[in-house]
Amino acid sequence: MKILMVCLGNICRSPLAEGIMKSKAPGNFFIDSAGTISMHEGKHPDKRAIQTAALHGIDISQQMSRPINKADFENFDKIYCMDVDVLADVVSKARNEDQRKKVSLFLEVLGDYQNAEVPDPYWGNMKEFEEVFQLLDRGFEAILKQII
Ligand code: 4NP
Repeated sequence: MKILMVCLGNICRSPLAEGIMKSKAPGNFFIDSAGTISMHEGKHPDKRAIQTAALHGIDISQQMSRPINKADFENFDKIYCMDVDVLADVVSKARNEDQRKKVSLFLEVLGDYQNAEVPDPYWGNMKEFEEVFQLLDRGFEAILKQII
């Protein structure tokens, strides 16, 4: 199972998601993350994301931001988006129905559409980053139950 996590900048939410998933996923899973913008390309995650992950014993400091690309739609089985804007952007890049079907809103799996977005913590503080971590953790647990 190959899973791609996508947010806007690939420096806050999706790197945390990648770190959490890599720490919990079975060995046959391949996990990666990307952003819809290339503004932070080549940069390591936001310091607050690195710190939040570290508080949970997860090291994401060596990850590097990259924008989503055409090959991702071929290479991954599932592409999970952090919010509706990211979802719209990623869906618009899919080139056929098969590719579109791989794309969904990550937190839909929790069954509460109103809260289906992982809020952007970029303008927030460590409290917001911790809340994002908890949401991602719950979401991935639910996805694992669904897949396995
Ligand atoms: P992310 O957060 O999408 O969770 O990585 C953001 C990162 C950068 C910006 C916004 C959100 N930005 O405006 O540069």
